[in-house]
Formats: sequence, C-alpha cells, structure tokens
Amino acid sequence: MAPEITPTDATLGAVVSNVRLNALDDAAFAAILEAWHAHAVLIFPGQYLSEEEQVAFSRRFGPLERSLTKTHTKHDPAIIHLSNVKKDGSLWEAKSDTGRLLQGNNYWHTDSSYKRIPAKASLLVAKVVPKSGGETAFADMRAAYDALDPAMRAWLADKIAVHSYAYSQGKVGGTGAITRDEWDALPPVEQPVIRTHPATGRRNLYIGRHASHIVGEDPDESRKLLEGLCTAACQAPRIHVHKWDVGDLVIWDNRCVLHRGLGHPLDQPRRMVRTTVAGDSDEANEWVA
Ligand code: OGA
Ligand code: MN
Repeated sequence: MAPEITPTDATLGAVVSNVRLNALDDAAFAAILEAWHAHAVLIFPGQYLSEEEQVAFSRRFGPLERSLTKTHTKHDPAIIHLSNVKKDGSLWEAKSDTGRLLQGNNYWHTDSSYKRIPAKASLLVAKVVPKSGGETAFADMRAAYDALDPAMRAWLADKIAVHSYAYSQGKVGGTGAITRDEWDALPPVEQPVIRTHPATGRRNLYIGRHASHIVGEDPDESRKLLEGLCTAACQAPRIHVHKWDVGDLVIWDNRCVLHRGLGHPLDQPRRMVRTTVAGDSDEANEWVA
C-alpha cells in the first residue's frame, strides 16, 4: 500500500491518504518524508492516533522536545495538550493564563523559534473540534522568500533576528502559564532571517511573532520591518487553511512554514494534542524529552 499524495491549491501542503500511520513500513515512511520535504505540510485525515501512537510516529522524524510544564501530561513530557477544556469539563476563559497562552497561537509563528535550537517539526492531532472556527493556517516561507524584492532579499541575506518568548507572549499576556524557572531558561536567542533547508537546499524566510527585532538595526524600525515582511509573506497563494475533523493529523516543517490558529468561539471546546520534533544540531539540546 503506497501513500497517495494530493497537493493543495497553495504553494505548500498535501493531503496523504491510503496509509495507516500506526502501521507504517520503512518504504511508506520514506515516501512520506520525501513528500514532506516537497510540500512542507502534510495532512493525514482520519488517523485517530492515540497519544502513544502519535509519539511513536513523531519520533521517526527525530528526538522530541519536552513541553513547557503546564501543558504536558504527567505521563509523557513530549505531549502538549492544547485545550480550552479544564479537568472538570468547564472551559478556560479568554483572560485566564491558559486562554491567553492559546491566544498567542493565533498570530503567525514558527514553534520554538525562541529556543536556542528551534524545532524541526510539529505534529497536531484533533481530539475535539469546535462547531465553527478552529482552523489552522499555514504559510509557505520558501515561496515568500522567492517572492521578495531582489534588493530586500539581498539586504536580508546576512541579517540575524532576536527571537524572544517574553516579547511575543508579553503582547498577549498569560505569562503565568509557564514557571519562573522556565522563563529563566528562555532568554532571547538569535536566529538567521534567511535559512537554507538542509534537505532541499531551498532558501526561506524565518520570521513570525517571536522575532522581536534585527541585530544591529534600530529596534523599532526593524520590528516594523519584520511585521511588514510577515504580513506580505502570509498571503495567497502561499496559504493553506486546514479545517479540522476529529482524528486528523497534520505535520508541518517549522524550518520553512509559519502557522497560526484562526480562533473559535470560546464557549465551544477544542482539544488538540501536539508533539514537537527537536531541531537537528550537533550541540546538546536541553529541551529534548
Ligand atoms: C501549535 C499551534 C494552532 C492551532 O499547535 O503549535 O500553533 O490552531 N496551533 O491550534
Ligand atoms: Mn504553534
């Protein structure tokens, strides 16, 4: 059984069918990896993976990041529960720490860009979906790089941005959702504004909400420039929006894709489970689970 790959109408994303992610032989995994490198976002409808199966599939892409304290289960630090549902079944309010933490996800970002070694991939599985809204949007930073004005592309070539979770999350609040020790372990870090993808050799923009300003440039001016770049980058035909059904799994490449939640009515439950594949690095990664 070979996976069937159907690209979306956008410059990124493909739907993969004819495959069972909990029973995947090496040939099928190789086909998936190749498709992932080509399309950057893969959508697997109706997989209904358990948390254990999601972790096992995720680990095929590399070691997993451990999550921040308050979002992981007691059982597996590699699992993140993105949920507005409390233990007692009632819903977190928008103004609670959890509500604000989730709200942060609704701005274009790439996961863990505020960590010294940023994430390679994220995998999200839908457990409970709201009646309306709750989609996730993905934006292709390879095509965004290709679409840059040549002068801007040349100017950005050697630029370094400071990425900071205190900066990005500070804008929406909810900073109490992670512990003091975790804040101390997340000082601002520097990331190149242009990355080259190790598997494809394609260049792409590496920006998003955690990018605060550009090193060596005026902080306010470069912040405005980064925001403008992000707005221009995240436009059709570089956007694919996924409308979730329960059981779907989506994997995206954090090295070359921005994503954001589109939000949903907060009186409706939404429960998602995420795993995060750590970035490849020769250095020790303190965030590996
Ligand atoms: C994430 C994320 C957005 C969403 O899981 O990293 O940003 O729609 N999710 O839940
Ligand atoms: Mn995210």
